[in-house]
Amino acid sequence: MPLLEVDGLEVQFFTPRGVVKAVDGVSFKLEKGQTLGIVGETGSGKSVTAFSILRLVSNPGRITGGSIRFEGQDLLTMRDRDVRRIRGREISMVFQEVMTSLNPSYTVGEQMREVLRVHLGQSGQQARKSALDLLTRVRVPGPETILDRYPHQLSGGMRQRVMIGIAIACQPKLLIADEPTTALDTTIQAQILDLLEDMRQQLGMAMIFISHDLGVVARVSERIAVMYAGRIVEMGDKYEVFDSSLHPYTIGLMDAIPRPGSRHKPLQPIRGAIPNLLHLPSGCPFHTRCPRAEARCAVETPELLQWKTAHWAACHFAGDLRSVVAPLADPVT
Ligand SMILES: Nc1ncnc2c1ncn2[C@@H]1O[C@H](COP(=O)(O)OP(=O)(O)OP(=O)(O)O)[C@@H](O)[C@H]1O
Ligand SMILES: [Mg+2]
Repeated sequence: MPLLEVDGLEVQFFTPRGVVKAVDGVSFKLEKGQTLGIVGETGSGKSVTAFSILRLVSNPGRITGGSIRFEGQDLLTMRDRDVRRIRGREISMVFQEVMTSLNPSYTVGEQMREVLRVHLGQSGQQARKSALDLLTRVRVPGPETILDRYPHQLSGGMRQRVMIGIAIACQPKLLIADEPTTALDTTIQAQILDLLEDMRQQLGMAMIFISHDLGVVARVSERIAVMYAGRIVEMGDKYEVFDSSLHPYTIGLMDAIPRPGSRHKPLQPIRGAIPNLLHLPSGCPFHTRCPRAEARCAVETPELLQWKTAHWAACHFAGDLRSVVAPLADPVT
């Protein structure tokens, strides 16, 4: 049984201007200990997908379809009480906006002890010792001093370490990291990515790692899902997706990242604007920006099909590069 199985997930926002299909039929599987990277431009539905897994989509948003099974149990039909027990203990999350997830009015120690109290029933000396252990584990220098600091007294990188410490406090089976390094400068970003990877290996956690930066996603993920306008347009083993991309959008994303040795080559941003989810183009949602688009792309929406053992793509012309092995019966091996 996979650790996590997302099947046909649909999330819509009912706004005064109309219905926004933020997530439109997303399916994937994650085995125990595996890492899936989700990449895509702003507004493609990455965070909404992540929040759905924790059942944290709030008004005017609603999960309108699909299922999310965690160790076989559907999180979407589970009682609130049971979801709260899973959240934080079995599945935890690290965000970009650390300042909004750490409470500015409480010290680091107070917040860590609260998590340890709620989820593990620890208090007093025991909680303090656990908090120190966690800070040491996430390589915070001088953990005793840090316990008495308020979040704003720490650097961005240090706050993110504290968040990771809190996230792993209960040794979750799944860690969802949503743009955890985006606000940090490059050196600190690399340290945090290394830390996440070390923690993942030590605790045997599975991880969903979200970023708009393909380079960052590639660094930590074994598999990659590329999202566009609420859908997965390409998914597969990292090397497959990188070395033999099947979707023009993925190829466009790769042309838009800086690479060593190509410093003087101008980066090619993907032409055209990110689509308005209130008025999605007909057919393939990417066709208005796609260099390969033909007439049928404006009419027929391509399905996510499996083209190789570990490689799926939703493009009418993916077959020009690979021959199809089977329609998508089973989202991910
Ligand atoms: N509270 C909301 N009200 C209305 N629409 C929303 C709301 N939250 C999200 N959306 C819609 O859902 C879409 C997907 O949002 P999401 O936050 O998942 O994007 P993302 O891929 O995480 O982007 P980013 O890279 O900027 O974080 C957005 O384009 C937006 O239209
Ligand atoms: Mg986001």
